[in-house]
Amino acid sequence: MRKKTNTPPSSDVHLNLKQYKKIYKQSITDPNRFWGEQAKKFISWFTPWKKVSSGDFRKQTKQWFVDGKLNACYNCVDRHLETHKDKPAIIWEGDDPNKSLTITYGELHEKVCRFANVLKKQGVEKGDRVCIYLPMIPETAIAMLACARIGAIHSVVFGGFSSESLKTRLLDLGCKIVITADESVRRGLYIPLKKNADTAIQDCPKVKKVIVVKHTGNPVEWHKKRDIWYHDAMKEVDAVCPVKIMDANDTLFVLYTSGSTAKPKGIVHTTGGYLVYVAMTFKTIFNYQDGDIYWCTADLGWITGHSYLLYGPLANGATTLMFEGVPSYPTYSRYWEMIDKYHVNIFYTAPTAIRTLRHEGDTWVTKTNRSSLKLLGTVGEPISPDVWEWYYRVVGKSKCPIVDTWWQTETGGVLITPLVGVTPAKPGSAAWPFYGIVPEIIDENGKIIKDTRPGKLVIKHSWPGMLETIWHNRIRFIKGYFEEVPGKYFTGDNAYRDKDGYFWILGREDDVIKVSGHRIGTGEVESALLTVHKISEAAVVAIPNEIKGHGIFAYVVTKPNTDLTDLKKTLNKAIQKEIGKIAVLEEVLHVKELPKTRSGKIMRRLLRKIAANEFEELGDTSTLADPSVIDDIIYQRKKIND
Ligand code: PRX
Repeated sequence: MRKKTNTPPSSDVHLNLKQYKKIYKQSITDPNRFWGEQAKKFISWFTPWKKVSSGDFRKQTKQWFVDGKLNACYNCVDRHLETHKDKPAIIWEGDDPNKSLTITYGELHEKVCRFANVLKKQGVEKGDRVCIYLPMIPETAIAMLACARIGAIHSVVFGGFSSESLKTRLLDLGCKIVITADESVRRGLYIPLKKNADTAIQDCPKVKKVIVVKHTGNPVEWHKKRDIWYHDAMKEVDAVCPVKIMDANDTLFVLYTSGSTAKPKGIVHTTGGYLVYVAMTFKTIFNYQDGDIYWCTADLGWITGHSYLLYGPLANGATTLMFEGVPSYPTYSRYWEMIDKYHVNIFYTAPTAIRTLRHEGDTWVTKTNRSSLKLLGTVGEPISPDVWEWYYRVVGKSKCPIVDTWWQTETGGVLITPLVGVTPAKPGSAAWPFYGIVPEIIDENGKIIKDTRPGKLVIKHSWPGMLETIWHNRIRFIKGYFEEVPGKYFTGDNAYRDKDGYFWILGREDDVIKVSGHRIGTGEVESALLTVHKISEAAVVAIPNEIKGHGIFAYVVTKPNTDLTDLKKTLNKAIQKEIGKIAVLEEVLHVKELPKTRSGKIMRRLLRKIAANEFEELGDTSTLADPSVIDDIIYQRKKIND
C-alpha cells in the first residue's frame, strides 16, 4: 500500500516519530508521571491532587487525580477571560444558512452564569441530575456548562430520541429538571421536542420543572405550574455566579449509550480525569493552534459532541463551530460552503457523512474553495481506504493530514489515532495507540495475539478519560467491561494489528450495530419489535450498507393467523416510538422459527450470514435444535432478493 506522510503543510509539526516513540514509552512505563505533567499543563486546579492515581485497574478501583479540586466550567470559560474575553468561543450556524451567531468567551461567561443561577433558583444542587433535551443550539452548550459550574450532573439526550427513550433516561437518573425547546429544526422541518418531553414527563413524577428555550417560536402546550421560558428566566437572575469546587472524582455527566441488552446504559464520567484527557487529546491530536477555527460536526447529544465540540476545545480556549443542520440541506455543498464562510482550519466528521457526500459527486465539493483547511478527522466507524482517499484528495486537496480516531462513549476521548507529522498514513487504519494507551488483541481462549490475526480489542491499563462506572449499576459495569477478558477493559470491537503495529478496527463483536455512526443495541430494537402484539419472537442483526455502514435487519416470528400487510411499516412505527428516528429497519424477514441451539440460544452468527446473503459460509449448524429451520430462512431470504 502507498504510504502518505501525515504531515501538515504549515510549520505546525510538533514532534517527529522518534520523539513520539520516546514519549509513548515514558507514558506507559510511568503513567503517573506522564498524566501528572499533562494535568498540570492543561488544567487549572484549585487544589492539587494528592496522588495522580490510586487503586487497581484490574479490580476496577482505579481513580485519577485523587483529592484534586477543580471546576470544569471554570477551566472551559472563566480562566480564558483574562486573555480571550473577546475571542469567539462558539460560532453557531442554524439549519437555515441565514441564521448564525457568534458568542465570545466574555458573553459565554455571562450566559453560563445566568443559567447557572436559573438552575439554582429552581433548587438544583451539587449532584442533582439535569436532563438536557435540546437541539444543536448554543443554549445546549450553555446548559451543560451551567450544570458543570454548580456541580449538577448533566445528561444530554439526543434530540432524535423519542419520548419513550427520554422517559427511560429520566427515570433511571431520577431527574427533577428537564431543559428542552419548543421545536428543533432539521432540513427545514420542525420536530416537536417540547411535545415529546411532555409525553415522557407524564410518567416521571420526580420532574418538577421544565425549562423551555423558544427556538422556532411556534406555539406549544404550556403547563403553568411546571414550565418556565428560558429567556424570561435568564432576565430575572444575576450575571454573577461563583463556581462550585468539585472533587476530581465527582461526576461531571452521565451519557446513555447502547449495549448488548435492551436497556441503554448511563456512562458516568468524572470531572478531573475526563477533563484532563479531552483537553490534552484535543490539543495533541488536532494540533490546535491559537486562532484556528475548529469544527466538529457531531451533535452534543453524543460523546463526540461532549468531548471534541465542547469540553476539549473550550478547555483549550479554542473557537468551536456548532451546526444545527445536516450536510445535505439546502444542498450537498453545505459543509464545504460553511468551511469557506467561517475559514475552518480543522474539520472533524463521521465516515457516514463522507460516504453520503462522496456518493453525490465531486462537484458539490470542488465548486467550493476549502483553502483554509489544515487537518481532517474522522470518528465513529471504520473508514474504508477508498472513502479515505476521496476525503484526502477531493476534500483536503491532498494537503491535509487525516486523523482517523478510534474511541467510544466509555473511553471519554480518543485512544487510537494517527498523530500529525508523526504517523505515515495507512488509509483505513486508526494507526497507533495514543500516549498512555496499551491495546491488545485477544483470541477466543483469552490469549494475547502477537501476530496479525484478528481478535478482541482490549485495553490493558487505565487512562484518565475512562468511564467511572455505569449509573447505579456497578455490576453491569464490571460484567460488561472486565469479565470477557478478565482484568482488561473489553471494548466490544474486533481488530487486528499489522506488521507495522497499525491497528485496523473491524467493527463490533457484540450485539451493537453502528448505523450511520449511531450506536444501536440489537436488544433495544428487539424489545421495540416485541411491543407489536402480532410479534412473538424477534432477532435483529446488522447488514452491510454502502452509505450507512450498517443497516438493521430483523427476523420476526408472528402469532398464528396474523395479517402481514404493512408489516415493515408497523414495525418501524413501533421502533420510532420506542427508540426514535435514528433506528429504521432496512429489511424484515418473516420466518416460521428462529434458529436456536438445544439450550434455546438464538444463533445470531447464522442470521448475520443469511442477512448478508452469505449462504455458502454458514459453518457448523449441528448444534441447532432443528437444523431444518435454516432452510426455510434461506428460502425466505432468497425470496426478498428476487
Ligand atoms: O465500533 C467502534 C466504533 O464506534 C464504537 C463506539 O461508538 P460510540 O460509543 O457511539 O462512540 C463513537 C464516537 C467516539 C466503537 O466501539 N468506532 C469509533 N471510532 C472508530 C470506530 N470504528 C472504526 N474506526 C474508528 N475510528
